[in-house]
Amino acid sequence: MATVRAQAPGRVNLIGEHIDYSDGFVLPFAISSVTTATISTREDLVITVASAQRPKSVYRTTLDDLAPLTGEEWARYPLGVVWAMKELGIEQGMDIVIDGKVPLGAGLSSSAALECSVATALNSLFHLKQSLEELARITQRAENQYVGVPCGIMDQSVSLMAHEGSALLLDCRDLSTRNIPFEIASHGLELLIIDTQAHHALVDGGYAERRASCEKAVAELGITSLRDISVADYIAAGTRLDDLTYIRGFHAVTEMKRVLDTVQALEAEDFTKVGQLLNESHRSLRDDYTVSCPELNVAVDAAIEFGALGARMVGGGFGGSAIALTRQSNIEEMKRAISAAFSANRFKSPRFFTSLPSEGAHVI
Ligand code: GLA
Repeated sequence: MATVRAQAPGRVNLIGEHIDYSDGFVLPFAISSVTTATISTREDLVITVASAQRPKSVYRTTLDDLAPLTGEEWARYPLGVVWAMKELGIEQGMDIVIDGKVPLGAGLSSSAALECSVATALNSLFHLKQSLEELARITQRAENQYVGVPCGIMDQSVSLMAHEGSALLLDCRDLSTRNIPFEIASHGLELLIIDTQAHHALVDGGYAERRASCEKAVAELGITSLRDISVADYIAAGTRLDDLTYIRGFHAVTEMKRVLDTVQALEAEDFTKVGQLLNESHRSLRDDYTVSCPELNVAVDAAIEFGALGARMVGGGFGGSAIALTRQSNIEEMKRAISAAFSANRFKSPRFFTSLPSEGAHVI
């Protein structure tokens, strides 16, 4: 019996939201919370999946029985990765034990952390020699086809490829990357992560529907992707699109520009500008792409009112987390202000995290 243990982090996205599936550039970083997968080979073809968080329920299947869209809800994520990697040379069963420390349902990509910890462990355990880019595509395929969630490639890529101290500028077209130093602590700044604890029912349908609008805009404009059109050309061509398709595509093309502007501002250490770009991103997600929700808007507005340089929702939307770029000296007051605004609106109390940009997945 051989055993490998690997860990993979969750993520926050500094900027570049809902554009990974349009071949855009995104700028996420890995957070310090990780999921750990310990995988041991077996002599037979049985696969068991257990979790430190739910010690009483062990899910059991076999290598031959793996089939998309089956099985217990959470076990589908690790099993999907085994399914997607099986053809690469997995011929034995295994015992998988997961220890997930990335907060669930907070929009911090606990599912990508889970998938990437399993993929990294399997890659090493079975000597599959897959590159990080290949592992990103494999884990995305597991989530798209086995679990049935039509996500893009951002979350898995950053969980695998991130570097400590940097945000990851990821080109979602070819998965090339550049590390952009994000050492805000030395400037007296901090990134506050606000988990609204809200989760709205729109999540699944709303995501797929917006993705379809972007694909429709691409088809009607006769381009390869929204990546291939400037904001000015998009506006000029806009009369060829219906209003809903136009405004959704408009979010995508303007967000792509904001990502590149943010990289420039970070390189110039112009954090006021970074803050403005975060605010513009939120406005675009709230008003043009309509993926925000009252809890996220209250969190962002309260953060800005109490002195944040900028704030925005992160991830898929309709709940989950927001981020606020703020002075370290201001952070406790800001948390109190956001909590007070939530209680005035009769929302569930928010949870707060901070995290420095952390290392991507690796064997431990
Ligand atoms: C979710 C998806 C990602 C990305 C974001 C929005 O996190 O998993 O692929 O599309 O939403 O930016």
